[in-house]
Amino acid sequence: MRTYDQKADLMDFVNLPHVVAMVGLPARGKTYIAKKLARYLNWVGLPTKVFNVGDYRREAIGSYRGHDFFHPSNKEGTDIRNKCALDALQDVCDFLQSGGMVAVYDATNTTVERRQLIHHVVVERMGYKLFFIESLCNDPKLIETNITECKLTNPDYQMMDKEDAIKDFMKRIEHYRLTYEPLDEEKESIYSFMKIFDTGTHGESVYNQVGRIGGDTDLSPRGREYANALAKFIKDQKIPNLRVWTSCMKRTIQTAEGINVPQERWKALNEIDAGICEGLTYEEIQDQYPEEFAARDNCKYSYSNS
Ligand code: SIN
Repeated sequence: MRTYDQKADLMDFVNLPHVVAMVGLPARGKTYIAKKLARYLNWVGLPTKVFNVGDYRREAIGSYRGHDFFHPSNKEGTDIRNKCALDALQDVCDFLQSGGMVAVYDATNTTVERRQLIHHVVVERMGYKLFFIESLCNDPKLIETNITECKLTNPDYQMMDKEDAIKDFMKRIEHYRLTYEPLDEEKESIYSFMKIFDTGTHGESVYNQVGRIGGDTDLSPRGREYANALAKFIKDQKIPNLRVWTSCMKRTIQTAEGINVPQERWKALNEIDAGICEGLTYEEIQDQYPEEFAARDNCKYSYSNS
């Protein structure tokens, strides 16, 4: 159930069509966030569509051409990628002109110049609202998980051996890093934006500590340290009108406990329930449910249990 304030926020949100533009290096969870956001906004009744520039590039060049295509010195690659970005942006505008309310522009948008272009088209030319979401992550474990669980099933890598695909993708990230300019809070302060750090992490729980999945346990001592540091960090930011949303699980409530601002709990933010595997370690799951374990290992997001 939505509270009054959330409804008011949504009403404010629907006044004008919006473009939500993702920002970030590959394998930072942008597509995951974009799809989740679109699913939620469609669910609350706002016609929303994701425009993935990678899909435009695949359509334009056919079979995958390897990491070199993404190197900034590759003129042909750069021209094609720029054209795909513009084509997708045009489709974003067409969608909003024909009744769409929110377009999620899912691309890396890693340079100041690209963000200026988006602002020019979306705000100055079309008069829509624009909001950037930058996903930042330097945790090698999270990046590796994202690559192995999502990127290897991506059409770019379907014909490639797993190890080669990982190597190629890592090089692709390095090519983007050469020109990456994170959103600058001062130089780009005219934009509305949100930065998401290490998406999906929260303070360590007692279950995390012993390698058990799911459950609803308290934070571990390390988790409490994280919560205290987070509260201090947020206090120092002095963010006006800040509100905090957490899931209904103890670990997320306790992680945000020290942040002294209005807070709301959302069941929709709860981690997906692991059903019969709740509270087990991965070794126990492998032992007790080997078929489930193998299917999940193969593709966490798309396998279905029998
Ligand atoms: C891609 O071609 O896969 C991504 C395009 C981009 O940089 O946004």
